[in-house]
Amino acid sequence: MTENPLVLFMPSGKRGRFPKGTPVIDAARELGVYVESVCGGRGICGRCQCEVQEGKFAKHGITSSNDHISVLGPKEIRYAEKRDLKAGRRLSCSAYVQGDLVIDIPQDLQVNAQVVRKADDGRIIERNPAVHLCYVEVEEPDMHKPLGDLDRIMAQLETEWGYTDLMIDQHLLPQVQKILRAGEWKVTAAIHQDMDSSRPSLIALYPGFHNEAYGIACDIGSTTIALHLVSLLSGSTIASSGTSNPQIRFGEDLMSRVSYVMMNPEGREGMTTAVRTAINNLIQNVCTEANVDTQNILDLVFVGNPIMHHLFLGIDPTELGGAPFALAVSGAVHSWASDQEIFVNKGARIYMLPCIAGHVGADAAAVTLCEGPHRQDKQMLVVDVGTNAEIVLGNRHRTVAASSPTGPAFEGAEISCGQRAAPGAIERVRIDPETLEPKVRVIGSTLWSDEPGFANSTSTIGVTGVCGSAIIEVVAEMFLSGIISEDGVIDGKLAEKSDRIVQEGRTFSYVLWRGQQEMLIRQTDVRAIQLAKAALYAGIKLLMDKQGITEVDTISFAGAFGTFIDPKYAMVLGLIPDCDLEHVKAVGNAAGYGAKMALLNKGYRREIEDTVTKIEKIETALEPDFQRHFVNAMAMPNKLEPFPKLAKQVKLPKRQLMADGAIDDGSPRRRGGRARR
Ligand code: FES
Repeated sequence: MTENPLVLFMPSGKRGRFPKGTPVIDAARELGVYVESVCGGRGICGRCQCEVQEGKFAKHGITSSNDHISVLGPKEIRYAEKRDLKAGRRLSCSAYVQGDLVIDIPQDLQVNAQVVRKADDGRIIERNPAVHLCYVEVEEPDMHKPLGDLDRIMAQLETEWGYTDLMIDQHLLPQVQKILRAGEWKVTAAIHQDMDSSRPSLIALYPGFHNEAYGIACDIGSTTIALHLVSLLSGSTIASSGTSNPQIRFGEDLMSRVSYVMMNPEGREGMTTAVRTAINNLIQNVCTEANVDTQNILDLVFVGNPIMHHLFLGIDPTELGGAPFALAVSGAVHSWASDQEIFVNKGARIYMLPCIAGHVGADAAAVTLCEGPHRQDKQMLVVDVGTNAEIVLGNRHRTVAASSPTGPAFEGAEISCGQRAAPGAIERVRIDPETLEPKVRVIGSTLWSDEPGFANSTSTIGVTGVCGSAIIEVVAEMFLSGIISEDGVIDGKLAEKSDRIVQEGRTFSYVLWRGQQEMLIRQTDVRAIQLAKAALYAGIKLLMDKQGITEVDTISFAGAFGTFIDPKYAMVLGLIPDCDLEHVKAVGNAAGYGAKMALLNKGYRREIEDTVTKIEKIETALEPDFQRHFVNAMAMPNKLEPFPKLAKQVKLPKRQLMADGAIDDGSPRRRGGRARR
């Protein structure tokens, strides 16, 4: 007896043996490989496309060939005539296994290619969304069979799609008969089933065959809200948009927003309305841009820090304003878009990722999901820098998390010439260590200030301030060129050598820019950066202590700040621990990407829900060693840590000598205490 053919699916690598004549879609489903299907195998939706990989796959012991799959059938020929079926593509509902096969299931399938405007960031998210579209043809009503219209739809959904025990959204009841008649007894049902064990719900009904279903992935940051419109059927990001968080008018940072709620009884409601209105506007924007009807939005995933998370859900965040930082809800939240006043399809669902702790929110959970320290063997450090830095460190064996109150210095606030990243803001700085002369680059021009044409290229935008990434660079460059000591003091003696060093009262400042507007880096600015970076580093160090490690293997910098910051300068300042620079990467809006993963694959929802329960939360304020790490981290790069990997790539200034000629390493002996040995 010949063995059943072996079928291997890519990219998942799942494999199994199936009798000849098995539809490819059935083989995939039996192995748990997700293949989209809206039409239920009628050959009209085109969502189930696959491709045969030809050749010898020695590793798998498979020789795969197009001769091992059935020839193009009538449904495929009809689909290819009506739509576009690329050469080599097959409809897995209409193609049958005839021999050993390696089958590729393209994850980013474009059926309505015209609506795709924006390329995604290259990574592919395997899909298994919580919402499915199911097309059914329903019998016409019959006086002798008094089964209601909705009941006949349900019966068909059970027969064709296997959905039993369906719950119906109340808002559909008054519409069923009209929809069914408008579709001439054909309808497409949207079924929501978040967990395989949960009861599925019928959440939307469209007349006839309907081939569009979208989701929203949104990161509610305290400064900005970023939102993506994603096709649930192809996985593509169709359009993205962002706006500043309108809650800023109630308070720049998180704690001032909590104080506002405490002091103004109406404050919570005002902030909730503000953020929901901004999200509704963004949804309108992306839908207009992509020509998508908001009625086709059926699932939404939101992430945010605990305070944003609570305010969005209409929960008073007062308890998060002080110890023990009690969350009203820490687990994942399942809700209705209409309950949160988000105006999309009435049946659309909302999923919010779980929060890790009172200070480490659903945004950090999304970053964790995206970067996956819990999937690694190596020790991965993930840092999301905002006004509050969220830090996750670990590997598959143990993961720990904390937040550190870095304040808004890294975003340009608290700095005398600081500004948000916008055209005209200085974004790059270099200082000549001999002459102490700076050169800068500003957002909106590609030229350095010492290059011909710079004045011209900045004539309209001007040079207006220093943004976060440049603040890191300018302080680090001041350190590397000897303008500031490792303790962060601007060396007044250099005023004799350069007119860039100027005295202001009892301290000195560095003149970074002379133009229409003079920009000075003052001693207080350097201090603000030192305080922020020391808070971040002390938090990281506490987590490293918990893990019992003295170095990390990789560092991922999440968030807008991480995108523009140069890792080398971040390390020179001692913002992050010593690490091979090639293992430090900026990962952009990882929180938004994590939200997209949870939107497109409900398996990721279960993964992060499980991971969050295992992450150990460290409350930095309660840790006795925080202060010690903080004090050491005030120095550049650090009073105690040697940073040998960085020293191989960057010429660091010599460490300061004590009066006895020894290196001031910050140890108690050097501080006048008694040596313990
Ligand atoms: Fe619709 Fe195959 S399932 S074309």
